[in-house]
Amino acid sequence: MSDKKSANAMWGGRFSAGPDAIMEAINASIGYDQKMAKQDIDGSRAHAAMLAAQGIINDSDASAIRKGLLTVLSEIEGGNFAFSTALEDIHMNVEARLTEIVGPAAGRLHTARSRNDQVATDFKLWVRGQMDAAIDGLSALMAVFVDQAEAGADMVMPGFTHLQVAQPVTWGHHMMAYVEMFARDRSRFIDARKRMNESPLGAAALAGTSFPIDRDMTAEALGFDRPSANSLDAVSDRDFALEFLTSCSICATHISRIAEELVIWSSAQFRFVTISDRFSTGSSIMPQKKNPDAAELLRSKVGRITGSLVALLTIMKGLPLAYSKDMQEDKEQVFDAADSMMLSLAALTGMIADMRPNEEPLRLAAASGFSTATDLADWLVRALNMPFRDAHHVTGALVKMAEDQGCDLHELSLAQMQSVEAKITDAVYEVLGVENSVASRISYGGTAPVQVRAQIKRWREALA
Ligand code: ARG
Repeated sequence: MSDKKSANAMWGGRFSAGPDAIMEAINASIGYDQKMAKQDIDGSRAHAAMLAAQGIINDSDASAIRKGLLTVLSEIEGGNFAFSTALEDIHMNVEARLTEIVGPAAGRLHTARSRNDQVATDFKLWVRGQMDAAIDGLSALMAVFVDQAEAGADMVMPGFTHLQVAQPVTWGHHMMAYVEMFARDRSRFIDARKRMNESPLGAAALAGTSFPIDRDMTAEALGFDRPSANSLDAVSDRDFALEFLTSCSICATHISRIAEELVIWSSAQFRFVTISDRFSTGSSIMPQKKNPDAAELLRSKVGRITGSLVALLTIMKGLPLAYSKDMQEDKEQVFDAADSMMLSLAALTGMIADMRPNEEPLRLAAASGFSTATDLADWLVRALNMPFRDAHHVTGALVKMAEDQGCDLHELSLAQMQSVEAKITDAVYEVLGVENSVASRISYGGTAPVQVRAQIKRWREALA
């Protein structure tokens, strides 16, 4: 009987002894799932209101429960709540405290419900909130990229392939490339949010319930579009967490790409951009140093975020229906990835807003490496009606000549050019400057300032 006392107050009826300390340690999730206190209490309040509306519990019990739950929430939010590992998780911690506050009426709250549909509901609400935060964070990030694009719509810079100078592009064009990438990331969160927005509440343990519950009522109260249609699926499904982590992983991958560019661009060798002091750090030994630590950390966050995705995919793989305790391991992965994601979005937004492009080094680099060779070949095709393959060959010979003489293409004299191709005229010089080059790329989606400005306008309107 004394042993029986220490058995779990929530489910200890059939137990004659309490759990081993190690059992308690491996079983408990309260250390982290207390993050879902607000969602747990919102779900319970909706459930209690529905039970009363359906005549399953009486109005006075329901109102005591609903009021008591608000007291519990304010204790938790105020830091005045003693979480208990013996009570395993947030669901039982809240219910136990509710019992202390309102007495036996609290025991009626768990009618027609199980922790299986409860945890699925809480976790969905939590993930949905993070999806909304990611959507807002991405909108803010896109807006600062559009600002950068607008300020440098005409600024020339080298476009790279293989990190070798390829063709001149505009700064605005490069910034807008990231707007497109982050827009796709945002749409992935938006899509996932639509798909996940079905309420598991009322699925109970796995089979539904014999009580006359109204699942539409709780779904609506919690902002879900509808109740989920299969109770087994409802308690087994963690697709929403996987899709959240997938969306985060792709977004973090994109963030790592701009982060890498910032690291390269801010180096003394490139000097393409100046990162603000607010987003740089110094060295404890080398007084001259200004390090792009935030960019490096942004480059690395994808490791832990994608790690979380792989972890949860692996946890879910091969799980039989319906609930298994394995699924408790979903939360820390998602919590950690969400923290990393939101911090990354905020840090990148700040860095991009503050970053200054350095016009002169960008322009010099744009003109280096015979970056207008393709313009020359295109001119030979247009002006001399040469087949492109021949034009490619002639241009190659001119590049070789310029390289041998240590000059750029536009520094070759007309006579030198004509020694390779007699029909070349001095109109060729019009296409050789980097400004001419970018201005000529007017195809839809191309780097010409006129095209880039059209995209800036489109996104400004879409983001307004
Ligand atoms: N803490 C548990 C979790 O996070 C809640 C669900 C427990 N359900 C159960 N049948 N033991 O998964």
